[in-house]
Amino acid sequence: IRVAVIFGGRSPEHEISCVTAGGVISAIDTDRYEVVPIGIARDGSWVLYSADPAQLAIVDGRLPEVDSSGPELAVAFSGGSDLLVYDGDTPRRLGGIDVVLPLLHGPLGEDGTIQGLFEMMDARYVGAGVFASAASMDKVFMKALFTGYGIPTGRYVAVPDRAWRGERKRVLDDIAELGGTVFVKPARGGSSVGISKVPDAADAEAVTAAVDEARRHDPKVIVEAAVSGREVECGVLESADGGAPDVSQPAEIHVADGYDFYDFEAKYLSTSSLTIPAGLPAEVVAEIRREAARTFEALGCEGLARVDFFYGDDGRVYVNEINTMPGFTPSSAFPQMWAEAGLEYSALVDRMIRTALD
Ligand code: DAL
Ligand code: MG
Repeated sequence: IRVAVIFGGRSPEHEISCVTAGGVISAIDTDRYEVVPIGIARDGSWVLYSADPAQLAIVDGRLPEVDSSGPELAVAFSGGSDLLVYDGDTPRRLGGIDVVLPLLHGPLGEDGTIQGLFEMMDARYVGAGVFASAASMDKVFMKALFTGYGIPTGRYVAVPDRAWRGERKRVLDDIAELGGTVFVKPARGGSSVGISKVPDAADAEAVTAAVDEARRHDPKVIVEAAVSGREVECGVLESADGGAPDVSQPAEIHVADGYDFYDFEAKYLSTSSLTIPAGLPAEVVAEIRREAARTFEALGCEGLARVDFFYGDDGRVYVNEINTMPGFTPSSAFPQMWAEAGLEYSALVDRMIRTALD
């Protein structure tokens, strides 16, 4: 079975995608699968990756990236999902692939765009489809769907580009009404890139600076009221037999000392840690797992997802977000939660590919 593993990409999460791919390519069962590693460089070029996948790792705090000097790749739309490789000017047929594993995070990878390309190619692929990917990438639409499906989530204010440029005073008033601490985020991002924590929602100057920072990544911004409590995540896998999705035990995140919140550095370059399973009361765990499955279904996800929660000091459970291609490095929460459930890293990859082929 030929698997195209696609990684890198044009989003700010390029490096994390590379680390994910390094883990997956090293762990995949090569007796069963033939891997075609495809890197998307930051400039958007597609290359056949020929270096050692061990280089796709964080070494001494240095993040890997796709080197665009490899043989360039093209996709032939006529005749199915044939891939062509250009060595110099001469195209060489690479042949068809059976399934694509798009290990991409963020815009142009996790947001339905590349999934649309796969649909056009009639290729099978792991993970959510076009709409579920797009809706899960955009925190404003995601929260609107949560609300529509009665999934508990925190309060927020959407800051679309036009409103920020044309009605800034009203937007700042709405944000001030959230009260207390707020998180200001690019609406379509991941790995905490571009996120700021503002201690006082009524501090118009600090909020403006945070919105401007988020807008460096996305003209659409969301401002969320902070939920005081514990941060918990849950893995979800599409069921193998068409039934309700399988949900892992939740993991609790412990942000390393010295970080104000779970930002990019705290996520990937610090001693932040996880407790699996999270030490929460049994009825809270049951509620979290139930809401994780409901969130997966509400957004129409397929394959896999990770649902992120707060267990508030008020005793309530809040769904913060869903990620359709969660971080998948060997030390990421998603594979660790499944390992705790008895599904080891390579068996997890195998299950994801089989689900896509079914
Ligand atoms: N966006 C990152 C990769 C995550 O959700 O894990
Ligand atoms: Mg996310």
